[in-house]
Amino acid sequence: MCICTPDLVERVVALVRQTGVLLTQRPDPQAIQAKSATDYVTNVDLAVEDTLREALAELAPQVQFMGEEEGHSDLDPARPFWILDPVDGTTNFIHNYGHSAISLALAEDGQVVFGVVYNPYRQECFTAVRGQGAQCNGRPIQVSTAPHLSDSLVAVGTVPGHRELGQQAFAQMWAVYNACQDIRRSGSASLDLCDVACGRVDGYLELYLQPWDYAAGSLILAEAGGCATGLDGAPLCLTQGGPLLSSNGRIHTALLELLEQSN
Ligand code: IPD
Ligand code: CA
Ligand code: CA
Repeated sequence: MCICTPDLVERVVALVRQTGVLLTQRPDPQAIQAKSATDYVTNVDLAVEDTLREALAELAPQVQFMGEEEGHSDLDPARPFWILDPVDGTTNFIHNYGHSAISLALAEDGQVVFGVVYNPYRQECFTAVRGQGAQCNGRPIQVSTAPHLSDSLVAVGTVPGHRELGQQAFAQMWAVYNACQDIRRSGSASLDLCDVACGRVDGYLELYLQPWDYAAGSLILAEAGGCATGLDGAPLCLTQGGPLLSSNGRIHTALLELLEQSN
């Protein structure tokens, strides 16, 4: 039986919205740590993760927890688990750029069954339950109808944590830039996926992301009529990272072919 009941969904969405207040505070400059030269964690990332881990354990004690910051060893993927990015867009957050989100998904039987992405700066809460459509603040959302790359605005990611992939990523962006109307770089993968889901952009790609970047957003996008896959068109993995291509569905094959040629 699916553990994703309407009551659980309602409580978790309320919890994520409430926890989003933490992202409207500034991080403690003394508490910003470099995980690598281009990848940071702040006291707020840790506070959001701790708050949600504890509250989710009370709401659903049988569900395991995968969080970006505190690790996820001993996870049994055959049993349900949460996938949390406490602050997706940490570099934006450090710079007070006002474009970051909490991204939380529930995985069961190898697939995401529920996702919520909350942007506290615009107070936009994107949600989806598998098979029930996608919403922003409770209102249904849909992908764009752009049929061709030449009609499309495409978001891109610059793989900041994997600089070794930077040259290949920029070659792909160049190919996409030349084929579409223009490109955008927001700094939050989960919000990029939600932007595709609600038709603000027609596609989004990044050469390497982690499951917490895309788990919630990929379900929201699929439920809004789009799709997110690997660069080979294969389904995304929930236990390890990889490249991501997402779109309104109509331009997916054209993007896959374009990226294949740009390699
Ligand atoms: C990052 C953001 C960014 C993407 C990076 C991610 P973080 O997540 O989603 O847009 O380009 O690849 O790592 O580190 O801010 O949680
Ligand atoms: Ca992230
Ligand atoms: Ca993060």
